Amino acid sequence: MTAMTREELRARVLGRHDAVPDERLRTIITKLIEHLFAFASEVDLSPAEWAAGIRFLTEAGHITTDTRQEFVLLSDTLGLSMLVDLIGHATGQGETESTVLGPFWVEGAPWRSAGEMIGRPEDGEPLHITGVVRGVDGTPIAGAVLDTWQAAANGCYDVQDPNQPKGNLRGRFRTDQAGHYDIWTTRPVPYPIPDDGPVGRMLAALGRHPWRAPHVHFMVSAPGYQTVTTHIFDGDGEYLDSDTVFGVKPSLVRTLTRTEAVVPGRGDEPISCYALEFDFTLAPAE
Ligand code: BEZ
Ligand code: FE
Repeated sequence: MTAMTREELRARVLGRHDAVPDERLRTIITKLIEHLFAFASEVDLSPAEWAAGIRFLTEAGHITTDTRQEFVLLSDTLGLSMLVDLIGHATGQGETESTVLGPFWVEGAPWRSAGEMIGRPEDGEPLHITGVVRGVDGTPIAGAVLDTWQAAANGCYDVQDPNQPKGNLRGRFRTDQAGHYDIWTTRPVPYPIPDDGPVGRMLAALGRHPWRAPHVHFMVSAPGYQTVTTHIFDGDGEYLDSDTVFGVKPSLVRTLTRTEAVVPGRGDEPISCYALEFDFTLAPAE
């Protein structure tokens, strides 16, 4: 008898999945097995390396809770989340590009009125974000909802930080009849993704940093249009070229303008602050 070869094993494993009844599941599992075999063979994966991989995934499982999703961080830091986002969301009609949702979006953020400030003085320098939400044909969309959230000056979202009130630096705004929106927030800062678990250790072993380029998150929706989940990035911020989750797209980067204005909740006199304009474009619903 001759010893089993890699090729014989591969054919036997694939053959076991020839008759998976669900066609899409059959495609996915077959391709997964083919690529896993190609990967392990190409790098000559040793038993010790395989065991280290299993330990890594086990640790990722152990640290994962309802509020800490290590597998999503793994997907994000390997670029898979952005690839899946590109596959799923780019319609090519000129809509605003999307980027990662991240783990800090919270359903049911407080409703805010136009021009409301969503941050406290200690959350950073005031930033006025204004613009118009339009369809790809240029029609302004009245009543579109902009759900926005961001980290405070200490790099933490409200859900990570017991010293921030619930709903701090997040809110839902509606566009007016002309499709215009008006948000006061604070200038975003860079912050590290949660790096005290196996993904953080992986990044360290790879010589990579865990930092995200400074950004404000948006989820923009309107009836009859596809929702876009995206960020606006500060064009003068750090880590634009090395954002740890590969979330930066050039079309989402804006240079902030330094100006002076009366800022809601910060007295009656004009003070130093930043402004930026960003128009969102939504693709029609499929
Ligand atoms: C965020 O931007 O909130 C984020 C995205 C991916 C991983 C961690 C955080
Ligand atoms: Fe973020």
